[in-house]
Amino acid sequence: MYDTGRFDEYGLNQARAQQPEYDGWSVGTPGDHEPSSHSGNGFGAVPPLAVPAIPSPLVDAAPVARSSLGDGRTNADSRTVPSPPTQAVPTLDGASASPQPAVSRETEDPPLAQEAERAVRILNPSGEITMPRPAHRRVICVANQKGGVGKTTTAVNIAVALALHGNRVLVVDLDPQGNASTGLNVPHHAGVPDVYDSLIDSTPLADVTQSVEGIPNLACVPATIDLAGAEIELVSVVARESRLARAIQGCRTEYDYIFIDCPPSLGLLTVNALVAAQEVLIPIQCEYYALEGVQALTSNIALVKAHLNPELEITTVLLTMYDRRTRLADLVEQDVRAHFGEKVLQAVIPRNVRVSEAPSYSQSVMTYDPGSRGAISYFEAAQEIAERGARAEGVGVK
Ligand SMILES: Nc1ncnc2c1ncn2[C@@H]1O[C@H](COP(=O)(O)OP(=O)(O)OP(=O)(O)O)[C@@H](O)[C@H]1O
Ligand SMILES: [Mg+2]
Repeated sequence: MYDTGRFDEYGLNQARAQQPEYDGWSVGTPGDHEPSSHSGNGFGAVPPLAVPAIPSPLVDAAPVARSSLGDGRTNADSRTVPSPPTQAVPTLDGASASPQPAVSRETEDPPLAQEAERAVRILNPSGEITMPRPAHRRVICVANQKGGVGKTTTAVNIAVALALHGNRVLVVDLDPQGNASTGLNVPHHAGVPDVYDSLIDSTPLADVTQSVEGIPNLACVPATIDLAGAEIELVSVVARESRLARAIQGCRTEYDYIFIDCPPSLGLLTVNALVAAQEVLIPIQCEYYALEGVQALTSNIALVKAHLNPELEITTVLLTMYDRRTRLADLVEQDVRAHFGEKVLQAVIPRNVRVSEAPSYSQSVMTYDPGSRGAISYFEAAQEIAERGARAEGVGVK
């Protein structure tokens, strides 16, 4: 018989004892602590588990204060993890990040009355609330080669939020998984005309575009299983990196925004998206290894910019799946803000169960539960994207 007690006594505890003490990246187990404020302080009395350092050059370079107490306590015990910066933070490109005002990032859903009020603001049935429309079409590629960081969720929900507030929006599903097509409830079974036909057979984008039911200003170019072969088939096609760019340039429908949902890789499909876009939106999950691979992505973006698409800029970074109960989430946020500066949206997407439930009902969280924290946060993020774009006259606009 397996003795869990013995395992706990001799296995787990031993393993814990053998872990090196961690110098500033410790987190408590969920439920160990009071809900933390944004500054990441406020943990309870239970000693935190030590966790390995994030093996990322970006993280390692982060200006996180690490005290050596020399008395056997971890930094977590002494609550010495720094608060978010209140001074301007230098970034790699020499820009300065302004102090960030507090933004809503509660994980729980709000009380009913507020929820109803917010739902009306988000669904905007009267059409009274508008987000500024850009002077020119903005093509935004949502990319991060790390899987499951919220690319599709971000593309779908921001597109829906913009469409519900007066913008004409197209989502191009460039991932053979077809998750964006599912999230928007657009048929994408085998045989449906899809983005593959535009990429490989030069079918006009308008011929493979479907309108999204229930959201008048929103359309989607779906991805079917055919797209799985495109990565290989594209290798032998003329102008293989710019097939999507040509399809989008040839699209005469007047969209304010085109969002391209990329697969979790840096292959030819993602390169096509980077060549077709003027802007890159990078969702970064507030988790372990969040920044790992971001450098590979940014150097790929630099290569595409140098050789194929001089207009390309990383304009937006969005923190996703923020869990306010963990100090790690705060630390990742500080790192990302220190690295990307003002490109990081002030809106942060919390980990919220409504967001993860929505796709199983073939919906965005905006329509599935418009009063939820997840919907509110994506609404705020979309608003920021629209307002920043409007302010940045001519920047990232074709
Ligand atoms: N804020 C959130 N709160 C809770 N769950 C979330 C949140 N954002 C995304 N998820 C869930 O996390 C999973 C991964 O999200 P998503 O599919 O958007 O990531 P992705 O980067 O597009 O993944 P892939 O790399 O496979 O394309 C999904 O199950 C999604 O429902
Ligand atoms: Mg995806």
